[in-house]
Amino acid sequence: MHTPGQRLNTIFAFFVTVLFSVLTAAALSGAFQIWRIPSDAVKVNIKLVDADIKMGRIGYYYDYSQPPIELGSLKFDLDADLTKLWNWNTKQLFLFLVLDYQTPDHNLNHIVVWDDIITSKADALINLRKQESEYPLADLSKKMSGLDANMTLYWNIVPNVGMLWTQAKGAAPVHFPQYKGK
Ligand SMILES: *[C@@H]1O[C@H](CO)[C@@H](O)[C@H](O)[C@H]1NC(C)=O
Repeated sequence: MHTPGQRLNTIFAFFVTVLFSVLTAAALSGAFQIWRIPSDAVKVNIKLVDADIKMGRIGYYYDYSQPPIELGSLKFDLDADLTKLWNWNTKQLFLFLVLDYQTPDHNLNHIVVWDDIITSKADALINLRKQESEYPLADLSKKMSGLDANMTLYWNIVPNVGMLWTQAKGAAPVHFPQYKGK
């Protein structure tokens, strides 16, 4: 007949099968839910308030062996309604605002201006005013004067289980002034 070990093994195997079926169902249904969201249900509006240039150094504890370079900074307004991205399989949203532009040497440049982690549906309604860039903005050429760029909001939808999605929306033009100071 069946020993207690065999019975335990059967119960455990059943438990594991049920667990993985539930996880698979959550992953697929969550993904399906996100795939079904119409693109106009997610609203993003980015507006540049101010773009500025100053001289400074970046890097690990500031590298004083190098001369200062042109660093950009931004102020922006951000209105976004990402509540529709919330379902039973949404753990959090990782938002990042990205500046993209071209230079003579490089066709595509990306700089992360600001980022945030949203952990609840209520927080997915975003109204930022005159938010300052979190990081100093530097180009490989060490120059930011007169640069034209676009600002776009990207987000990762981090699931409880399953695939991580990356989406983006909203392009606001950005123009950096010429550096004038001394
Ligand atoms: C910003 O985006 C618009 C629309 O996609 C594009 O026409 C324009 O060239 C972009 N500007 C820069 C500086 O990349």
